[in-house]
Amino acid sequence: MLARSATTRDRYAMYNANKLKIGLFGSNCSSGRAVTKVPERWSGSWPDNLRLARMADEAGIDFLLPIGRWKGYGGETDYQGATLETITWAAGLLASTRRITVFGTVHAPLFNPVIAAKEMVTADHIGEGRFGLNIVVGWNEGEFDMFGVEQREHEDRYDYAQEWIDVIKLIWSDQEDFDFQRKYFSMKGIRGKPKPFGGTRPLMMNAGSSPTGQAFAIRNCDAFFLQASRDSLAETTQRVAAVQERARQGGREIGCYTVGVVTCRSTRKEAEDYYHYSIVEHADWSAVDGILALKNISPQTVPMEEFLRKRSQYAQGMGGLPIVGDPDFVAQQLADLSKAGLTGVGVSLVNYAQELPFFCDEVLPRLVRMGIRDGRAAQ
Ligand SMILES: Cc1cc2nc3c(=O)[nH]c(=O)nc-3n(C[C@H](O)[C@H](O)[C@H](O)COP(=O)(O)O)c2cc1C
Repeated sequence: MLARSATTRDRYAMYNANKLKIGLFGSNCSSGRAVTKVPERWSGSWPDNLRLARMADEAGIDFLLPIGRWKGYGGETDYQGATLETITWAAGLLASTRRITVFGTVHAPLFNPVIAAKEMVTADHIGEGRFGLNIVVGWNEGEFDMFGVEQREHEDRYDYAQEWIDVIKLIWSDQEDFDFQRKYFSMKGIRGKPKPFGGTRPLMMNAGSSPTGQAFAIRNCDAFFLQASRDSLAETTQRVAAVQERARQGGREIGCYTVGVVTCRSTRKEAEDYYHYSIVEHADWSAVDGILALKNISPQTVPMEEFLRKRSQYAQGMGGLPIVGDPDFVAQQLADLSKAGLTGVGVSLVNYAQELPFFCDEVLPRLVRMGIRDGRAAQ
């Protein structure tokens, strides 16, 4: 383990000079982000996660971002039916790695903030300043039912999350023995020690897609995940610029990230064939339709053409940007995302551990040559 001194700026840069941060998204869940029946689909087991994290850490991947999921989506594979809880997952991985940032994805309405603040500090000390927080408010009502917790109206969810994060930031600050009286919380004599590693606080991100969710991220977070356009780099550039301008108006800076679904093989044909095999021929369509129904997307609610488009987008990476091709193509696509102003991309692979070595051997060096990544990061 490195003897690390954490400054806020170092933390947000994930302790490296990579212009485009690359992370792995969703490996704590069975099937990851690919709604597929192929037998090599991701197990999501602890041994596979540990192996993957060590491999990613060695190869210079910047972060691991888990999904906070409590119930699977059903279908033939019970898509994302087996999931590892994300703060404990992060703690285990931080103990087993040296340089990678590991996020916990925490549902504000389900975690008491005093407990959450301490769990996250514990993970942060284990990782010497490498823990990050993805704040989510939840959208899947079936999941909330099993906790006996009622999902609030959409706007109220972010109101509640504001209080939740405010009290956590206070717990992490120098304040001690303070009271917190607001609309949703009435807490007395709050004390939380130790503080986060190195006198800073964990990198915080959010991925709200509604205007309220986006405003919450801009007000509170260091990183914001937005959807990259599938059609136009100019459109992605404009989305990033709009978020950053709004942050600047509020006197803040925010890094914009996106989600990419990568299929990288030696040739474009091999990549396209595998994509077709795993995501078209062997998609778990009953799971896809269940997910779409949760979002109220069905042939009854939207035109058929849109339904079919969403269906295929959700099968492959739940709507993330598909990047399918040979290493030159994949590297160029990632470089384009950087050019659009994005700070990072969270990628998923059908079988993360099988596919990562080829990606790291072939794509990362190309990005170094293109000036997008720092070749020393993996050392
Ligand atoms: C990168 C990324 C990660 C997300 N992780 C989770 C998650 O783990 N659990 C969850 O319930 N929602 C997750 N979401 C959903 C968002 O937090 C958010 O609820 C959703 O985009 C809807 O936006 P809204 O809350 O502004 O309506 C994620 C979204 C993205 C793009």
